[in-house]
Amino acid sequence: MLDQSQLPRHIAIIMDGNGRWARQQGKPRIMGHQAGVRSVQEVVKCARELEIKALTLYAFSTENWRRPGSEVENLMGLLQTYLESQLDKMLQNQVQLRTCGRIERLPPKVRRILEKTMAKTAANDGLILNLALSYGSRDELLRATRHLAREVAQGCLQPEEISEELFSAQLDSAGLPDPDLMIRTGGEARLSNFLLWQLSYSELYFTRVLWPDFGREDFLAAIADYQQRQRRFGRTGEQVNDREQA
Ligand code: IPE
Ligand code: IPE
Ligand code: MG
Repeated sequence: MLDQSQLPRHIAIIMDGNGRWARQQGKPRIMGHQAGVRSVQEVVKCARELEIKALTLYAFSTENWRRPGSEVENLMGLLQTYLESQLDKMLQNQVQLRTCGRIERLPPKVRRILEKTMAKTAANDGLILNLALSYGSRDELLRATRHLAREVAQGCLQPEEISEELFSAQLDSAGLPDPDLMIRTGGEARLSNFLLWQLSYSELYFTRVLWPDFGREDFLAAIADYQQRQRRFGRTGEQVNDREQA
């Protein structure tokens, strides 16, 4: 049973293992991505029901552009179909769509539907569904740094004024709390250029379950595991206990 008062506000997920799932079934990789869309739907539904504030899904990395053109095309097609099919549901369920990453690199058709969906759901105040698309954390950090450097060069900003808050506000995730919990499926224990700044103090959860097999029960298990952790943020365990009792 989950403790309703200790739910993560923001959960970030590296949805990995689609290709291996397909290989296990003797199917082409794209079938794994297709099956992965079902997991997205299930996890979004569950996050909404739990009233989680934000869910960031790593759907396509800057490095994923290195994949064969046909796979990239298939992924873009799936993204387009997913967005087209989900708009009504997002409106009904108060889901607000956001993105992080270089969406200007996506094919125009995909960009158009993304922009349309973001505009139509902008006023929704339920779950924030944040899709990381053509996203790389180093790229995001460099864009933020260049922006601030330009302001310094123009004389509108003093280097000393660059605080954690000011820097965070330049990232694509501006306005979102840092993820409390980061889940990676598919068995790899690495971050693959995902939210390096924002995950500084997140609880990390790695599972061998391949993304297409990841469902409601796995999601709840990850949150239950998170609730067993003591988040100390540098303090001692005793200090944290004392604060909780106060
Ligand atoms: C994750 O599954 C989906 C994307 C990266 C787009 P993979 O396609 O990476 O699956 P594996 O790691 O090859 O099994
Ligand atoms: C990470 O998965 C990116 C996404 C899930 C979108 P990859 O499968 O691309 O990661 P690596 O390259 O194996 O680390
Ligand atoms: Mg992978």
